[in-house]
Amino acid sequence: MRIKKVLVSGGAGYIGTHTCIELIDAGYDIICADNFSNSSPVAMKRVEQITGARIPVHRMDFCKLDEVEALFREEAIDAAIHFAGYKAVGESVAKPLMYYENNLLSLINLCKAMGRNTARNIVFSSSATVYGLSDRLPLTEETPTEAYSSYGRTKLYIEEILKDLHAAEPGWNMSVLRYFNPVGAHPSGLIGEDPADIPNNLMPYIAQVAVGRLEKLRIFGDDYDTPDGTGVRDFIHVVDLARGHVAALRKLEEEPGYTVHNLGTGKGCSVLELVHAFERVNNVPIPYEITARRPGDVAANYASTDKARRELGWEATHTIDDMVRDTWNWQSKNPNGYRDATE
Ligand code: WQD
Repeated sequence: MRIKKVLVSGGAGYIGTHTCIELIDAGYDIICADNFSNSSPVAMKRVEQITGARIPVHRMDFCKLDEVEALFREEAIDAAIHFAGYKAVGESVAKPLMYYENNLLSLINLCKAMGRNTARNIVFSSSATVYGLSDRLPLTEETPTEAYSSYGRTKLYIEEILKDLHAAEPGWNMSVLRYFNPVGAHPSGLIGEDPADIPNNLMPYIAQVAVGRLEKLRIFGDDYDTPDGTGVRDFIHVVDLARGHVAALRKLEEEPGYTVHNLGTGKGCSVLELVHAFERVNNVPIPYEITARRPGDVAANYASTDKARRELGWEATHTIDDMVRDTWNWQSKNPNGYRDATE
């Protein structure tokens, strides 16, 4: 079926904002819904500035069914891209109930409200974390799944909920996208990753060291069985990732069903390689010290991208140099993220 109006839940977030831009560029009408618990309304103003589009923004909580149903009564929604959810691995281990309630209930409410629609199309923001500690690389969509955090289990459970719903009721079409490590920023430097607290993830931590907000990077272990001993990951530029969502929507229009695709580059890059690329491309020093391994980290992971290339006609094009350049362009122009914005 033809998809025209797309709801982007968590649309004001890091990946959400970049996806809104690509959806608009691809000709979709979009609606952003966000509770702004880990994002800023300023980000949506910046998306409007970049695209020239006016975007309806609904401040709402997907854990409240009445709010979700009201939205579906108000807007004729053809598809939803579901980003809304908590995503800090460490926090999820400390606060499992908060993660299960928020992430699962949000999705269930979305499906309940959409179930009253004739249009039942969902693109779900999943994660390579569902592959757990698998060391059989590259990770394919057939790699056995096993999550090792409450956060990862919410992703896995939601994939199963969507699969069951698709099997139980006609007309549901689901695209599950398993992200590897999203980094980078829109080339305008107007939007980017803006963690609410001290960053857990590598690239935003590097960026905040570069801009002087943090003193130095701690590299969690250099004794892994990898080329330089530091962890290896499949870093993917957030603009490539966003374009993967447009490709997934197109696929749902052409071939309804339930599908799972990795969104990665298929290339591994080590922590030290990323640090050195950041320093070289941006001519800014990143002081660091080697510390103990972080519990739960795998030595290496990277994606098999064959299925997404074959079935979605999509592949990542940005390089590591693009990723570190665009990250620095955003962070240097917005040293405190959206906090200092005047919009
Ligand atoms: C990458 C590498 C660290 C920080 C996580 C989630 C995953 C997804 C992406 C949501 C590792 C090293 C990191 C630091 C470091 N998130 N590192 N110092 O753990 O691969 O994936 O984020 O979907 O679900 O699991 O990403 O950026 O935290 O770590 O040395 O200060 O950088 O050890 O090797 P990760 P990361």
